Amino acid sequence: MVRIANALGLVILSVALLILSLISYVSLRKDSFITSKYDMGGPRIMFHAGFRSQFAMNFLDPSFVPLTNALNEELQGKTSRWKFNRTAFYLQRKEIFHFINIANNFSLTKSGVRVGQLMHFDYSSNKYVFSISNNFKSLLPDMSPIYNKHYNVCAVADFVFRCNFAPTEVYYKDVGRKTNMTTFNPSILERYYNNLLTIQDRNNFFLNVKKLEGAILWIPAFFLHTSATVTRTLVDFFVEHKGQLKIELAWPGNIMQDVNKYWKTKNLSPKRLSTGILMYTLASAMCEEIHLYGFWPFGWDPNTGKDLPYHYYDKKGTKYTTKGQEAHQLPNEFRLLYKMHGEGVTKLSLSHCA
Ligand SMILES: *[C@@H]1O[C@H](CO)[C@@H](O)[C@H](O)[C@H]1NC(C)=O
Ligand SMILES: *[C@@H]1O[C@H](CO)[C@@H](O)[C@H](O)[C@H]1NC(C)=O
Ligand SMILES: *[C@@H]1O[C@H](CO)[C@@H](O)[C@H](O)[C@H]1NC(C)=O
Repeated sequence: MVRIANALGLVILSVALLILSLISYVSLRKDSFITSKYDMGGPRIMFHAGFRSQFAMNFLDPSFVPLTNALNEELQGKTSRWKFNRTAFYLQRKEIFHFINIANNFSLTKSGVRVGQLMHFDYSSNKYVFSISNNFKSLLPDMSPIYNKHYNVCAVADFVFRCNFAPTEVYYKDVGRKTNMTTFNPSILERYYNNLLTIQDRNNFFLNVKKLEGAILWIPAFFLHTSATVTRTLVDFFVEHKGQLKIELAWPGNIMQDVNKYWKTKNLSPKRLSTGILMYTLASAMCEEIHLYGFWPFGWDPNTGKDLPYHYYDKKGTKYTTKGQEAHQLPNEFRLLYKMHGEGVTKLSLSHCA
């Protein structure tokens, strides 16, 4: 069970990946870090094509998170010294607001776009465009879905964020059932729903969206031009099923530049921030207190040493290509989040949720 905090739980469970060469490095390290009471079937050292010596990795990856005793203990669920520092959290929120107006930038709105307007993509060359159609515009909210939702709502109710339309049914013991908002990268249609090409694909997708009724589907359609075609498929689908699906759609515009500016002040400037840290940024405007689950940037389970898939719901043995993910710097993000955890700004839940 996910332990929901008295204020707001932030559940993000899909951010465990790693650049290949880093896996090599960390795999080496874990033997000295996990105590012998964890039977790992003998030390396992993975070698990849990208294997490099520890020294070289240290040099090449200054972002590596040193596995300190404190972190080690928290990973094993031994300590619960964490205390929320509201002052520090408010201070951070103020800094974030300096760069981005989260309530307004959470989604494009009907009045903010016009039909025929050419949108660009945050992470693609400026030559790529997406023309706003009537159908697309009809799916935009009249006003920001989170406009009056911050502070009070957050103080009295739990609000659970998820990433990537992650399934919960099979995994509810670990990830909980509640979802109040999930990100939905249009490419999910391609990867998991066969571009909605068959009746069965459409039914599957419909039923899975239906399960989220009452929640917000946050669809970053303007980050990468490669999602343009699936975005049209998605728009058609939602227009066809308008009225049948009681779900709030949110379509952020080109917000990443502003979001990046804030994290850059914390010395975090990867080519692409993870969805997880992006959700944290949005949550900072809506929530009085944020707890993070599933933020772990390495390809192995810190408690058992076993391999972890990139997403918890990936099929066993799924090999993720590192293409595209090289743009992320998850260990760097983790290091920063762990620092924030230490400062009481946010709580990183590192041990087992069950
Ligand atoms: C809470 O955070 C503020 C601002 O960063 C800091 O000045 C203060 O010392 C912190 N309080 C505690 C108890 O750590
Ligand atoms: C973000 O919000 C500001 C203030 O309302 C607005 O001027 C700007 O266009 C918005 N940007 C995006 C990408 O939505
Ligand atoms: C969050 O979602 C759950 C269902 O998943 C719902 O019961 C709850 O009321 C929602 N909370 C808010 C604040 O919307």
